[in-house]
This record gives sequence, structure tokens and C-alpha cells, in this order.
Amino acid sequence: MPAGSVQNGAEVAERVDTLIGRMTVAEKAGQLTQYFYFGSRPGDVFPGQAAAVEAALGRGEVGSLLLVTDPAEVNRLQRLAVAGSRHGIPVVFGFDVIHGLRTIFPVPIAMAASWDPEAIEQGQAVAAREARAAGIGWAFAPMVDIARDPRWGRIVESAGEDPYLASAVAAAQVRGFQGDGPGSPGRVIAGPKHFAGYGAALGGRDYDEVNLSDSELWNVYLPPFEAAVTAGAGNIMTAYMDLNGIPATGNHWLLTDVLRATWGFDGFVVSDAHAVHNLRTHGFAADLTDAGARAVQAGVDMEMTLGDAAYAHLPEAVAAGLVDEKVLDASVRRVLTAKARMGLLDDPYVDEENARTVLADPAHRAAARTAAQRTAVLLRNQGGLLPLVNPGSIAVIGPLADSRRDTLGPWVFDFDLGETVTVLDGIRNRAGVAVEVGYAPGIRPAHRAFPSMFDMFEGSAPADPPAFDDAAELARAVSLAQASDVAVVVLGEWQNMSGEAASRSSLELPGGQLGLLQAVVATGTPVVLLVMNGRPLDLRWAARNVPAILDIWYPGTQGGTAAADLLFGDVAPGGKLPFSWPRTVGQVPMIYSHTASHDPGHQDRRYWDEASTPLFPFGHGLSYGRFEYRDLILDRHHIQPGQTVIASVTVTNTAERAGDEVAQLYIRQRHGSASRPVRELKGFQRVTLGAGESRTLTFPLGPGALRYWNAAAQDWVIDTTTIEVFAGTDSTAGLTTSFTIGA
Ligand code: BGC
Repeated sequence: MPAGSVQNGAEVAERVDTLIGRMTVAEKAGQLTQYFYFGSRPGDVFPGQAAAVEAALGRGEVGSLLLVTDPAEVNRLQRLAVAGSRHGIPVVFGFDVIHGLRTIFPVPIAMAASWDPEAIEQGQAVAAREARAAGIGWAFAPMVDIARDPRWGRIVESAGEDPYLASAVAAAQVRGFQGDGPGSPGRVIAGPKHFAGYGAALGGRDYDEVNLSDSELWNVYLPPFEAAVTAGAGNIMTAYMDLNGIPATGNHWLLTDVLRATWGFDGFVVSDAHAVHNLRTHGFAADLTDAGARAVQAGVDMEMTLGDAAYAHLPEAVAAGLVDEKVLDASVRRVLTAKARMGLLDDPYVDEENARTVLADPAHRAAARTAAQRTAVLLRNQGGLLPLVNPGSIAVIGPLADSRRDTLGPWVFDFDLGETVTVLDGIRNRAGVAVEVGYAPGIRPAHRAFPSMFDMFEGSAPADPPAFDDAAELARAVSLAQASDVAVVVLGEWQNMSGEAASRSSLELPGGQLGLLQAVVATGTPVVLLVMNGRPLDLRWAARNVPAILDIWYPGTQGGTAAADLLFGDVAPGGKLPFSWPRTVGQVPMIYSHTASHDPGHQDRRYWDEASTPLFPFGHGLSYGRFEYRDLILDRHHIQPGQTVIASVTVTNTAERAGDEVAQLYIRQRHGSASRPVRELKGFQRVTLGAGESRTLTFPLGPGALRYWNAAAQDWVIDTTTIEVFAGTDSTAGLTTSFTIGA
């Protein structure tokens, strides 16, 4: 059987059952255990753990390892498992391949902002190819948690607030990682996470409890998981926190009733790191034996552990009659089936020479550049300041403009800083010798009040520049701006301020950045603000005083090149916001798909001290084209439940240059057996239109779009009602028509 080929189902089942028949309970428990392997990486929280893991490999008591990315190391450890143990069962190496392995793509929230499932699929296909070449068979991605509270740092890993967009993004990522399914050559197993509800942490505080209503769960938080399962995801990762009082990692309803019985998931489930062990910490399990027994019975096939694994107690639990060995067998069967499908049982080793070639592939860098172009969101462009027209001189300002590490964003480990292009590099390369490009940081980097484990692990906290004279540096930035035709100011958050364990109590620009921006704007030189971020920030001042604002997110390896492509108009921006951009932290959570509730006429006046509308609405984003919508037409105005309406709309680029637009379709149910949101996204298409070009786009509205989970009925319903349809450039789209359902 050649490496990576998908084996025949019956043949796989027979092989797997033969192995299970020969395994001891301890070997089974080991097969259900995934260890962190720090090796020489810093951060080994259990000293001596590497030696313990290597001994367990030799006993055939390890199912999987994470954190190993060096192909030679993969082969060395794999030999311990294959050549050194009784049954020679290989381990599957898993890793957080979130937005690239060596070639770093824009962060996931940015990819979602592309509203371009094809680009998203391609990005994860590149990541999969690099990972697989390095010996990694499984990505702990995509993160498909809905994120509605930007205080939560992991919004950067999400697709934002909307279940329809997030489902499309989830499915595209699964296709990118897995191709035709686990085992396709050059692909890896996708592991959508964190099942479920993790994004709704109380107060936006990472790891805190989550309480979600039945309606929110089924209509908002679960759909992206279902989409990922339908797309064939081979794995699902549990979540850390309690969901409505039950820890997600011990939650039989979630992991078995919903995931397997309702959705038919047939892959394997892994816990989040140490989450089985922590069932005890939660005050749920009595001890580690109880934790292991309850997790495996709830449906957690594999425990991800830092050491002191609860699953090491499974033999005890079986002996005490707390778990039937058949439950272990079912989990082992799922894990071994995944390994067999990946071709690992026949070809466990990795070709180190090939890894070097694949990781250096220039086509991957080209794909990352295109992705970074497509993810940028043009938030504002007063007077058509962008694209820049023949500037003689450009002042590039702000410490983030020249920071390679921050350009990559969080959740990357195997990047190559040497090849990372910053905004400053990108502008210099593109401008050539004819344009004078000056640089001044203006201020020193800002710091987190409390460092995270990632800062300790990676040493990624920004260093204070030696002998930095604050007053002199600010003055230097201001005079540089004064002497230049245009100032490109790059502001945002340092990458370690976003991601896991990176929640914030404020959305303000950290450090002295707002002061720097105000000082540069005061010079009168036109300012373009580039925002580098993983969450919306308080840009109220900028939205009033800075003519052009382009959100480039953390754009990855080729980020600076793509930023220059956009600034100079070599390509047009076309990304759209995947969340409602709040004015201030006091408004969060803020969603476009709220219900009308009481007094909708004053929706914008819910607070007395600030408008209660977003600074930029969900779906907002400009381009260098200008788009008009007309002729929103339905193929019929009355249907029965179960039938489909086709909507079409014509979009015209009325500008004199080409541009990108994401046409969006929303619905609103007028009345029914529950109050439904004032707007719900139900279709989108990204198009490039030349000057004066028109295109008619069609969007089906079928039963999947019209049904919703009704908490009173405890079921999916399609009401007899009137559905209003809206089409346009963002969630405030005005062009409308309607149809009726039923009688
Ligand atoms: C995160 C997961 C991640 C895992 C392994 C956990 O802390 O919540 O998303 O996959 O670590 O790195």
C-alpha cells in the first residue's frame, strides 16, 4: 500500500480489530494518550517528561505526540514507537497548524475577512502540504468557535460573529486540510475545535465558564461544527470550560448525543490540553481515575496531556468496573482507523529531503501574498487617498511597521523571521529608488500587564529598544511626517496581546499609539492608518480624523509585500468585516443579528453616553471600485416549507477602476413562532468587477436557510411567515423584496 493512500474500509477494520485483539488494557490506554513533547523547546512544565514519553513510546503506550516539527526528530521518535514496541504501532504527530507552518498566512480572522472560501481552502492546503512533509499528520485546526466578544483574545483564531460565514469558512478549512479526506497525499487530518461554546467566555475572559441558551447554541454556536463535520473533519477537539455547568470535556450530550448520534461524526475526539485531568480541577471528577472514566464514557477518545495523564488510570478504572473495556476498544478503534487511513501503519516515516524542498516552495509564499491581499479590509477612504498616486516621499511610522515577529501574528512556531516582509520592507521594495521612504517608530513597543505562557514559551514579548529617548523619538516621527508627502502609520496590538490567554479589559490602542497618531495627523500631512490586529480596537478618533484606514490584520510572511501592493493600487482591497466593529469596549458583545426586541426605533440610543451602533457594521469594507446594487429579483414570491426561492441581484462597479466586492444577502423573518434576528446573512459572493462592469449574482434560499432552532418546540422549524430579503454591500443593505412561506 503506497504512503498516504486511503485504504479500503473493510480491510482497515480487519487490521485494526486484529491489533486491538492483541493489546493489553495498558496499551489501549496508551493509544488513547497524546503527550506534549517539548524536547529541547523551552516550557517543559514537567521536567523529565521527555524521558518518560520516550520510555512510554518503547512500551507501545503513546497514541500521539504534539509539538514535534523537525522531520528528523519525527523519525527518531517514530522509530521508538515502531521498531521499539511490541505491536509497532506508529504515533500520529499533531500540531497547532493554525495559519501556516513555515509559510505563515494571515491570521484566521483575517482569512475570514476575505469572504473567499477558495482562498481559505488554498491557504490551508499549503499549510497541510508543509505539515505533512514535516511528518505532521494532524492539525489542531480550524478553530470554529463563534466569537462575539472581542475582549476574548482568541477572536483572532475565529471567523467572527456570524454562523453562516463561520460555517462556510469552517468547511473551506476542512477541505483545505484534508483534500478528499484523511489520507489524501499531502494532506492532514483536520481537528475543528473547541467543542463547544468556548468563544462565549464570561466577560471575554479566556477559560471562564460559558452559559448559552438553547437557541444560541443551536442557531449560532453549533452550526460551524456541524459544517466542519459535514465537510468530513476527521477529528474534533473538546473545550476547556464548563458549558451550562457541565465541563465540555466530560459532556456526554455534546460529545456523543449531538456529535455522533445527531451529526453522524465518525472520526475521533481529542481533549484540549490537560482538559481531562482538569475535570478534577473543575470540581467535577473526584480523582484522576474518575476523570478518565467519565471522559472516555462521555466520548473523549484521546486525552491530550502535559503529563500525569488521567487516562493512565484507565486500566484501574476497567479493573474496578468503572468503565467497560469495550468503551476503550471503541475509542482505540477510532484512533487506529485514523492512523490506518493516513497510511501510517504502512509508512510511518517522513522523507527529510522532501521536507526541505516542500518547506521552501516559492509557490507557498506566492499564495500567502495573494491571501494577504485578499484579507485586508479598507475601513475608510476619504477623498480617495488610497491608492497612493505617485508620492515623492513616504513617512512610515510606528514600531509595528518594522516588526517581523508581529507581522506574523500569534499561533505560529516554525516561522522563518528572515524571510518575513514587514510593512516597511514592503513599501521600500515597491517604492523603488524614485520615492524617498523614511522610517520612525515614534514610540516604544507596548507591553502586556501580565505575560502569558506563550511569552515564556516563545520569548515573544517585544523587547524594549535600548536607550530609547521618548521625546526625541516622537519629535523625529513628527518631523519625518512633516517632511513627507504622505504618512503611513502602522498601529495595533503586539501579537502576544492577541490569541490564547490574551483577553483584554479594554479595546484601546495599547501604549502611546493614539498620541503618536494624533501628533502625526496634526502635521497636516495626509495619513493612511494601517491597523495590525486580531480584534477590533477603539478607533473612534481615527474614524473621525484619519482619511484612510486599511485593516491588514496580522498578515503573515508576505504581509508587507501585500500591504504595498494594496497601498500602491497594484491590487484592490475587497475584504469585509467578519464582526461588528464596536465603538468602545462598553458596547460588547455587539452583534448585527440581534432581535428587534422592544423599542427598535431607538436601537441607536440604548446608551446615554455613546451611540449603540457599531463604528463599522458587520460586512463593511470598501474597495477602489464603487458598487451599486439594483434589481433584487426573486424567482417566486410564495413557497411551501421545504421549497427554495432563488434571489438574484445585479452589482455594477460605477468607478473608473477595477475593484473587489463581496455581495451579501440577508433575510429577516417578519413573524412566527419565535422572534428572529433583524438581519441574518444567508449568502455571499466575492467578485472582481472592472470599471463600469455589471454582474448578476444568484443566491438560493432553501430549507437550510429558512429553518431555525425553536427553543419552545425543541426542534428545527420553518414558520408560516413573510421573509424579507436584503442585498447589498454590508449588513445594513437597503435593497429589499419579500416572499411568503406556507398556506
Ligand atoms: C489550546 C488548543 C491547542 C492546544 C495545543 C490549548 O491550550 O486551547 O487550541 O490546540 O493547546 O497546543
